[in-house]
Amino acid sequence: MPTVTVDGHELRVEGGRTILQALDDAGLLMDGVDVPHYCWHPKLPIDGSCRLCQVEVEGIPKLQIACNTPVQDGMVIHTRTERVQRAREGVMELLLVNHPLDCPICDQAGECKLQDYAFEWGVAQARTREPRRALKKHVDLGPTIVFDQERCILCRRCVRFCREIPKTGELGVVNRGDHSVIETFPGTELDNPYSMNVADICPVGALTTKDFRFKIRVWFLEEVAGLCTGCANGCNVYLGVANNKVYRYVPRRNDAVNDTWICDAGRLSYKAIGARSRLAEPLVRAASGALRPAGLDAALGEAAGRLRRLVDAKGPGVVAAIASAHATNEDLAVFRRFLAALGVEAAGVAVVVGESDDLLVRAEKAANAAGARALGFGEAGPVLARLRAGGVEALLSMGHDVLHETLLGGVEPLAGLDSVIVLDTHHSELERVAHVVLPARHAAEKHGTLTNAAGRVQRVRPAVEPHFEAWPEGELIARLGAALGLAGFDGTFDVAAVSRGLASLAPAFQGIDLESVGDAGRPLGGA
Ligand code: SF4
Ligand code: SF4
Ligand code: FES
Repeated sequence: MPTVTVDGHELRVEGGRTILQALDDAGLLMDGVDVPHYCWHPKLPIDGSCRLCQVEVEGIPKLQIACNTPVQDGMVIHTRTERVQRAREGVMELLLVNHPLDCPICDQAGECKLQDYAFEWGVAQARTREPRRALKKHVDLGPTIVFDQERCILCRRCVRFCREIPKTGELGVVNRGDHSVIETFPGTELDNPYSMNVADICPVGALTTKDFRFKIRVWFLEEVAGLCTGCANGCNVYLGVANNKVYRYVPRRNDAVNDTWICDAGRLSYKAIGARSRLAEPLVRAASGALRPAGLDAALGEAAGRLRRLVDAKGPGVVAAIASAHATNEDLAVFRRFLAALGVEAAGVAVVVGESDDLLVRAEKAANAAGARALGFGEAGPVLARLRAGGVEALLSMGHDVLHETLLGGVEPLAGLDSVIVLDTHHSELERVAHVVLPARHAAEKHGTLTNAAGRVQRVRPAVEPHFEAWPEGELIARLGAALGLAGFDGTFDVAAVSRGLASLAPAFQGIDLESVGDAGRPLGGA
């Protein structure tokens, strides 16, 4: 492996890597060694067009662009010399010649590389007196993205993204010189399933998402590390939070899961957290036949009474349980212990299956189907077959995925049951037949871990606190277990302790818990 020295840091580098890649591999890029860059992106092909990343290499007379200069053994590189500084100032001055400098009304302000680099490496005074180039401020590129032509610095990241990642190639550069602009090809629009990533990688405020623009200034946002729960890939995201509300998901880099991308559907799935359809209080079916709000203790008492009566009269064989593939490993571990203590054997996990692609999107539309299986929940099919055959009198359902057309296909098969007890984050058709409904927290509102389709266990943590009553499923089940007087249930739910005990249920979790997975996650044993 070649050894190079960058500003005194000695790096052993994989052959064939460029200077920027070597710094990125070592975790030093912009975090120890500052080499500003616009056109280079770690997950896109090299362009070498912005010239901002110039560095001095001993023995080479001219400055070199770090993004396209392969490292060679013994190379000594300097990134902070007088020549480098002057070159950076020149590039910044050129980029700003025509820039509108409309930062006060630009959505990128606060997370804009042109602002940041101009502040650190630019010149304070403009030398031009000529009017700036006037271009279109609002070009609708498709259903998700708005383009401001004046702000574009022609780094072509967006063009390369569309060509190389979704491979749809809608964008190109038209015209020449300072008439160059980004456009969609005639007759097309930017509408691929990953289109909104172009707003993340655009280093300036030229590309903004219709969903987020003008919602809030980014400096008011706290970026909380979390996961998208839209499918079994478990893409890593930052949740942008302010005023106890999630305003957006943006991708969080994890090369083992999603590189630096997320799909548009997953990106917009943050809306489920604050949706009006959230279940906001426990409900119990009253004598009138209607579901009525109730206190949690009353609702748990009703659920426990129904289950106890049935189990004592007919045995646990008449009770069936459906686990949710949206619940955390910790919630599911408590559920499994609860079912074992009650003697219920008919249990499975409901998983909705839909479209997938070759990039990130997985067919299973829940974040923890693999975790549920690892913790011993089989498929829902046999449980549902038994239910349809009339062998079940009570159903305990986490979530409402069981109603999907590929599973139960509606509430009709549940209509005659003695008791239907539901734990859920959102209202659903299940309420037509439910006797007790218990409101649960979303993954963005609780501590826990989720296991993605590749067997990687990853962490979620509370980014927001619900402004209504909702509890983690694990806590609801623990309290239900206590209300039933089950052995080992005292009504408390210590998520960290449950997490540490996952391996006692499934050895694949050996050495894995809430604390040890870190922000990048860890693979299940054997995964
Ligand atoms: S729109 Fe943004 S990403 Fe695309 S070329 Fe212009 S500055 Fe670069
Ligand atoms: S691929 Fe799946 S996990 Fe990733 S962002 Fe899309 S829906 Fe979310
Ligand atoms: S980042 Fe190297 S030339 Fe643009």
